[in-house]
Amino acid sequence: EDRVSVGLLGVGVVGSGVISLIEKHQAKLAHQLGCGVHVKSALVRNPEKARSVDAKVNGTTLTTNPDDVLNDPEIDVIVEVMGGIEEARESILKAFASKKHVVTANKDLVALHGAELHEVAGGNKCDFYYEASVAGGIPILRGITDGFASDHIEQLMGIVNGTTNYILTKMHNEGVLFDDALKEAQALGFAEADPTADVEGLDAARKMAILGRLAFSTYIDLEDVEITGINGIELADLQYGDSLGFTMKLIGFATFDGKQVEVNVQPALISKEHPLADVKNEYNAVYVYGEAVGEAMFYGAGAGSMPTAAAVISDVITVIKNMHRGVTGSQFVEPRFKKELKPADQ
Ligand code: HSE
Repeated sequence: EDRVSVGLLGVGVVGSGVISLIEKHQAKLAHQLGCGVHVKSALVRNPEKARSVDAKVNGTTLTTNPDDVLNDPEIDVIVEVMGGIEEARESILKAFASKKHVVTANKDLVALHGAELHEVAGGNKCDFYYEASVAGGIPILRGITDGFASDHIEQLMGIVNGTTNYILTKMHNEGVLFDDALKEAQALGFAEADPTADVEGLDAARKMAILGRLAFSTYIDLEDVEITGINGIELADLQYGDSLGFTMKLIGFATFDGKQVEVNVQPALISKEHPLADVKNEYNAVYVYGEAVGEAMFYGAGAGSMPTAAAVISDVITVIKNMHRGVTGSQFVEPRFKKELKPADQ
């Protein structure tokens, strides 16, 4: 059969988007790849649950048994969009052990266990890609690794958490109180289930650790990332900044001074003239300073079913192209600075 079978782990917001977007773009995929792409089976907790996509109509079999997906010899590519850390990690390790390529949108997992997963992927000659893990629909990982491949990146500045950017925008522009703005962000669906990770800056730190790792070819330990969240920010702080010509944003900085990489996340006052000051509501943006390229900004949707699904499928396309060429690949390039894996990562 002239089509590649994909196994999906998780049919939530992103997984549903993956099923429907692959279906919608069959002709385009066939044109690009010279073969069809099909989500053969998908792991779910509850097959009866109502979903925005009817998997059965698309010919996808829903199962509650991970082995149905991970041990199916017809499946070449596993897409992990179930979230969480330990179960996702184990599933991906299993997938590599059975020589399946893996695409994930799981920022928490990649930030914490990326080093281990890259090593195991490489050892099994499997692909490992995670474009959707940072800034949803913005092709920022490719932008950094491919677009800046010949440049020397000096600094990244990122607005990579939609929830906090939404809260700060609403407070700054409309005088909405912190708690009310947070409730709105939750209602709109882009806050984490437990929004503490958003508000305290941890979600942004995880994404910046991934970005910094790719920009500077080094492993970045989350413990080395200094994090200050936006809890405690008051309307008066924003108004004061505004009166001086500044907008407050939660910015992730990743800087390489030629010797050392430093990553931190903190509420920062940005001049209203700076393009990052114009990034409003739940939007994300990453500002890149490259020695050769100069300044570039990537802007777009940082979350949501379709933007994130599009990023996931762009990785699936890369994996299939690699398969056809008989090569394996991954988002990461070998670190310039080798760091021993810690026991916890092994
Ligand atoms: N909670 C995240 C955000 C979702 O607000 O940006 C996307 O990773």
